[in-house]
Amino acid sequence: MSAGRPALAPRSDFPVLEEVVYLNTGSIGLEPLPVQRAAEELGGQIAGRGTVGFDDEIEKRVGDIPRAAAARLLGAGPDDVAVVTHATEALCQVAWWLKPGAGENVVSADLEFPSVTYPWLRLARDTGVEVRLAPALDDPASFSLDTIAGAVDERTAVICVSHVQYATGHRLDPAALVELARSVDATLVFDATQSAGVVPLDAPALGVDVLVSSGYKWLCSAPGAGICYLRPEIWERLDPPFVGWKSTEDAIAFDATTIPLARSARRLEYSTPAYAAGAALTAAVEYLLDLGIENVLAHDLALAGELRQGLERLGAEVLTPAHDDRRAGIVIARFPGWEGPDLAARLAEAGVIVSPRLGSVRFSLHVFNDSSDVERALAALEEIL
Ligand SMILES: Cc1ncc(COP(=O)(O)O)c(C=O)c1O
Repeated sequence: MSAGRPALAPRSDFPVLEEVVYLNTGSIGLEPLPVQRAAEELGGQIAGRGTVGFDDEIEKRVGDIPRAAAARLLGAGPDDVAVVTHATEALCQVAWWLKPGAGENVVSADLEFPSVTYPWLRLARDTGVEVRLAPALDDPASFSLDTIAGAVDERTAVICVSHVQYATGHRLDPAALVELARSVDATLVFDATQSAGVVPLDAPALGVDVLVSSGYKWLCSAPGAGICYLRPEIWERLDPPFVGWKSTEDAIAFDATTIPLARSARRLEYSTPAYAAGAALTAAVEYLLDLGIENVLAHDLALAGELRQGLERLGAEVLTPAHDDRRAGIVIARFPGWEGPDLAARLAEAGVIVSPRLGSVRFSLHVFNDSSDVERALAALEEIL
């Protein structure tokens, strides 16, 4: 390995790194071997043995474990966290619960990940709520808190934005967003899918109303188990639009005549979870907490900074802000004369795995990457360009 920054996590936990330079956590993160093993163990046990050694009581306890892990990650009490399948599921549930109507507006941005805006756009067809997508697509590099603030007024019922933008890498300040939402009495729905696992998040201290994250990106976990934090005052009011046997205080009471909702954020969970994905989430959170999320942020920022400098040397237009407080693990760049998909495909041929997004190329740097990955990606790019 070359001199420079070593990986934060043991690279041997990520065997695919022997084959490729993996800079694609923003799309699908790599699960370290201990996380894969935890999922295989529980998944295999349920697949092969059903309820043998997995009775109703054990099933309930097994369901509690990933919730407790997610709560630890977010500095929250376990009652304030639900384990959902993915961010999108929680965003939809929350949208249909809040159900803002005609005369109100929901503020987001036109460059957001579609799952952040779609629930509201769909809801608007039923309720007539105005969905204000603050304009940033024409000049993505200019995106900031001001972009969002410019669309907010006293009729704003909800602000729904990502912590870190999937297609530009901008990181917004959650405290400033909370202040903005509070100033007009709006609910802040905060999508941390591109930041949870990289940026330390103390949800109660920040005061966010709703925080969602899928598990399979920067959390290094598996598809099928994501996180939704609800501030206590929020879940107490939440009358979930989707309910099922698991939404209740005591699922194994099997009372089909009333809906005694769980007295916690768990009321958002309505059906049998993907237990193996939950085991992966638990192990992944422990893995990341052992590394230390502050250390993860410092590492990802440093590597992304190294990459950024190299990209600029190669003549790229970098859309991601340079300041450490305004970015996380993502760097997005445009290359004059190149379409993102073509360049990403050429990089893949050279063994460098990235994603094309909005005409640009997205590079994601995480705990298993080191400076040699950055150098190899830059060398491959130089060759292609
Ligand atoms: C901000 C954001 N939210 C949500 C998602 C994915 O949603 P889901 O995991 O529900 O498919 C992504 C994926 O790129 C994302 O960037």
